[in-house]
Amino acid sequence: MPTMRVDARGTRTPTTGAQLHCPSGVFEPTGTTELLIESILGFFSAGQSTLDLGCGCGIVGISLANHGIADEPVCFSDVSDLAVITTQGNCNRYGVTSDCRVGSTLDPWKGQRFDLVVSDVSGISTEVAAASSWFENVPCDTGLDGSELVLEVVERSCDHLTSSGSLVIPVLSLSNAERILRALEEKFDNVQEIGRKDWVFPPELKSQLPMMQRLKDLGAVSWEHRFGTQIWTTTIVCARTPANGGR
Ligand SMILES: C[S@@+](CC[C@H](N)C(=O)[O-])C[C@H]1O[C@@H](n2cnc3c(N)ncnc32)[C@H](O)[C@@H]1O
Repeated sequence: MPTMRVDARGTRTPTTGAQLHCPSGVFEPTGTTELLIESILGFFSAGQSTLDLGCGCGIVGISLANHGIADEPVCFSDVSDLAVITTQGNCNRYGVTSDCRVGSTLDPWKGQRFDLVVSDVSGISTEVAAASSWFENVPCDTGLDGSELVLEVVERSCDHLTSSGSLVIPVLSLSNAERILRALEEKFDNVQEIGRKDWVFPPELKSQLPMMQRLKDLGAVSWEHRFGTQIWTTTIVCARTPANGGR
């Protein structure tokens, strides 16, 4: 998952090139961020009331606002105070009207519904996160199979979607992707893939192959040997129409 760093802790939105501030301790956008944004731009029309959940530096919501997909004010939240302060600053810098809140998963949005909830809360195995360079000082309390926070969002999301609303989630094979997809299919009648990309293991994971094999044998993650290397996958999933009317 290559990062989109262009200087020390600065990052550009993938489509407009806007330069966002991203201090140490805030998740640095990656290829998955870029795939997530591009998949949404290719799938949704303008004018969605939007929540960017697990916002990091705010790159997803700001990009969607830049393209008119997200209506303003755009809502953002993250469990990290620093991420939310950073998002607020980046929104101010680019004139994106925002409502930025600190809190875990959907806690900050009691009673509020959105046309589009983009949930990019941490979603890889804690062991993979610890071995990789992606989550340095960034909260990733996700459990061995990486699904704990994502499953909580799936479980609670129907209470935060309008009747035609959508939940968009990157499902990473560095977590228990099957378990997450099963939960989505139980909760929603319409679950579809809107983007997918394969990635080669970064050097930190290549040097931890016994651990990666153990996690794979446990069913906590999935990856393949292909083209003489190790490949993992991000799938961008869009879920709509709560099953049983959301009950
Ligand atoms: C993979 S990063 C995504 C950040 C941003 N969307 C991006 O692509 O750059 C995951 C984000 O989820 C946040 N996070 C972790 N645990 C959370 C929780 N319980 N509730 C809300 N956000 C959480 C992290 O602080 C981090 O900013």
